[in-house]
Amino acid sequence: MSFDPKHWSNSHEGVCEKHGSWQVTLPASVTRVPTCPKCRDEEREARAAEERRVEEEQERLEHIKRLVRLVRAPPRFANAEFDGFGDAGAAQSRIATIVRNYANAVANQTGGGRWLVLVGPPGTGKTHLGIAAALAVAREQRRALYLRLPDLLAALRASYAKGATESEAEILDDIAKNFLVVVDEVMDGLSDHGQRVLFELIDNRYARNLPLIIATNCTRLEFEAVIGDRAADRVAEQASYLSCNWTSYRRRRRETS
Ligand SMILES: Nc1ncnc2c1ncn2[C@@H]1O[C@H](COP(=O)(O)OP(=O)(O)OP(=O)(O)O)[C@@H](O)[C@H]1O
Ligand SMILES: [Mg+2]
Ligand SMILES: [Zn+2]
Repeated sequence: MSFDPKHWSNSHEGVCEKHGSWQVTLPASVTRVPTCPKCRDEEREARAAEERRVEEEQERLEHIKRLVRLVRAPPRFANAEFDGFGDAGAAQSRIATIVRNYANAVANQTGGGRWLVLVGPPGTGKTHLGIAAALAVAREQRRALYLRLPDLLAALRASYAKGATESEAEILDDIAKNFLVVVDEVMDGLSDHGQRVLFELIDNRYARNLPLIIATNCTRLEFEAVIGDRAADRVAEQASYLSCNWTSYRRRRRETS
């Protein structure tokens, strides 16, 4: 038998609406209907691009999940949202909007390193709002952290003990890595150690122009006295005070249930 390419390949041709006339030579074993090779390349590229897009979206969602975990919201507040916040009246609604807009600005880096201090009596939703802000920022793929000052001070005291696994510097560095920090439960009767730690934290945010939310049961004047002059001076420059002054959500819930 003589060598005849026709036995192992076939030539096809046609006209594509998009690419004009085309010609392909395919092995005889290929049974699919031949089409424009440029269209085939384009389809293959589109499929690959779609696969990449799906993969990137999965990575984005995984990244967000990780960042949401890193907020370290306590279980009760794990899903704290702004939606539905404001049923205690106009003042509450106004403050919820301010905090929501603040979180958006932080996420978009248009906040210019401004701070918020949520002041007010127990049960008014300060923790809820602070965490809702941190979670909103995390969902926009920026690191945010919620921490209770008493917990931080306890962790630091533990770090001074012999054989501690983490040093003070490591704990503070970990906090400093966050784009937004929410410091809760800044309370009356702060020790010298507490004041020093809080000052470090505040001055770190200040020097780096980074956002900060503080929540406290103190009034503004009490708060300034509690944190000390040097911290209060920086807060006075950077922060807006939001007075959460409505009926305790906890009590209202008890009364209506
Ligand atoms: N508008 C609201 N909508 C839904 N839940 C709310 C609202 N306000 C507060 N809560 C809920 O009420 C409870 C009390 O709120 P939160 O703990 O945030 O108050 P707080 O101001 O931080 O109080 P404290 O000063 O005692 O720490 C929480 O369970 C919170 O999720
Ligand atoms: Mg609270
Ligand atoms: Zn084509």
